[in-house]
Amino acid sequence: MRILGIESSCDDTAAAIIQNHAQADQRILSHIVYSQMDHIIHGGVVPEIAARAHLDKIHLVIDQAMKASSLSYCDLDGVAATCGPGLIGGVMVGMMAGKAISYAHNIPFIGINHLEGHALTPRLSDDVAFPYLLLLVSGGHTQILIAHGVGQYECLGTTLDDAAGECFDKSAKMMGLPFPGGPNLENLAQECNDADQQMALENFPLPTPMRGRKNCDFSFSGLKTAVRTYIEKIAAQSDASDNTLPRNEMAQLAYSFQMAVKSILINRLEYAFTHIKQQNIPVNALVVAGGVAANKTIRHALQELTKAHKIRFIAPPLSLCTDNGAMIGWAGLERLMAGEENGLDMAARPRWPLSTLEPPQRTR
Ligand code: KG4
Ligand code: ZN
Repeated sequence: MRILGIESSCDDTAAAIIQNHAQADQRILSHIVYSQMDHIIHGGVVPEIAARAHLDKIHLVIDQAMKASSLSYCDLDGVAATCGPGLIGGVMVGMMAGKAISYAHNIPFIGINHLEGHALTPRLSDDVAFPYLLLLVSGGHTQILIAHGVGQYECLGTTLDDAAGECFDKSAKMMGLPFPGGPNLENLAQECNDADQQMALENFPLPTPMRGRKNCDFSFSGLKTAVRTYIEKIAAQSDASDNTLPRNEMAQLAYSFQMAVKSILINRLEYAFTHIKQQNIPVNALVVAGGVAANKTIRHALQELTKAHKIRFIAPPLSLCTDNGAMIGWAGLERLMAGEENGLDMAARPRWPLSTLEPPQRTR
């Protein structure tokens, strides 16, 4: 079975062709992502600009994905597109493109929840069996879930305020770093040598909200506020005429920030492991998904945590952690193989919690 997957819920316009091959490395036939850079000058994603950029690029991205796979539309068994959650203008663009292809070529349409795309990615990349523990850390979401099956997600905890990626992006912006903030903040933190790292933690101690709470919820707004307070202090003491912040101090602050986010994530996961043991849930792995999973410090800490708990750790390749069409195609394939097909009247949804999903319905 072969399927086209389309993603456009934030600032990446993406399309991929996926097949249900027994070997994981032969499942992705093509994989095209156009990352919008139009937002750089605004320091964050502007929904209206994003929607227009998707509209400009969607047909080109789909065309490239088709050409790269050497297939034609009549070789496809279905088309899957993100129907939410996300920036609604962008979601509409990808969803309507998918529906148009479905109608024109008379192939099934499957509307995918973007978060389910992230949640099922480890099955595309690593064949992991249900149930598994999932840490979803992206620009819009921070959640710990147990994936029991396709459409069956038990949410153990979520963020009470900002998402981890959002906190990275906002802190990076305050540090004067360009969009996208997360990777730029990681690069800045890497400028710290051993001595700087030591000084960073002494000079810029940061809070780790929710530590020790007997649940899996997150909070990042206190961390963001603490970063702002340090930056205001540093700016007030700086005598730079051009308002730039001293690079070495910013690198230390970035390092301390990254360590704080890591501590928050690890602490909340520790409680998830306690819960799983108490409930005797036989999870097969800890999987990390979402853009923040690209962060090397966080990936390494998760690896160490899983070693300590003697559980398999799965971090899909970075190109599958950030938004992409392959994850949407794969989620579509899992549902299509189970007999699901959605009507062309399926609505786009700005909000669509994973916990409200249902297992695939046999509709064909
Ligand atoms: O999953 P994703 O591509 O988009 C959604 O939000 O759905 O995640 C994007 C987020 C952004 O907040 C970005 O700054 C963050 O992931 N991110 C990172 C890194 N790479 C991307 N955060 C920290 N370190 C990174 N290396
Ligand atoms: Zn995402």
